Amino acid sequence: MLSLIQIVHFPPLGDERGSLVALEAHKTVPFDVKRVYYIFGTQEGVSRGFHAHRALQQVAVCVTGKCRILLDDGQRSEEVWLDSPTKGLLIGDLVWREMHDFSVDCVLLVLASEHYDETDYIRSYDAFKQVLKS
Ligand code: TYD
Repeated sequence: MLSLIQIVHFPPLGDERGSLVALEAHKTVPFDVKRVYYIFGTQEGVSRGFHAHRALQQVAVCVTGKCRILLDDGQRSEEVWLDSPTKGLLIGDLVWREMHDFSVDCVLLVLASEHYDETDYIRSYDAFKQVLKS
């Protein structure tokens, strides 16, 4: 069975001056990017997420710092640490996600395939299980 954790490795384009990563639609990121957002300044002990999306592809990367991501497809849950600016996590439709253990310096950058749409969110785990059944 395929892992829920789909890592995308971004090639670092560094030279003697330092590092650079380029994210391009349909190259490093497997969809048209319609939205970019980032989460930073997360307070100690705070966890975020706790939702799924009906139709949204996302790639998440900690451009600095780290956090732990839990993904759950209703049958199993898997975890991964995002702890490198070259390590992206692909998150597809109908996957419950939680973000935990943000380091104080964490900047979690997310590229998304659609504009923000609150109606695309499934914000309770029970509702998520119901949607999976239907
Ligand atoms: P939310 O998705 O609940 O954050 P998280 O899952 O990381 O805890 O978003 C927090 C707030 O920001 C909520 O009021 C919706 C708003 N928001 C936007 O307006 N646009 C966006 O692209 C995102 C991701 C959130």
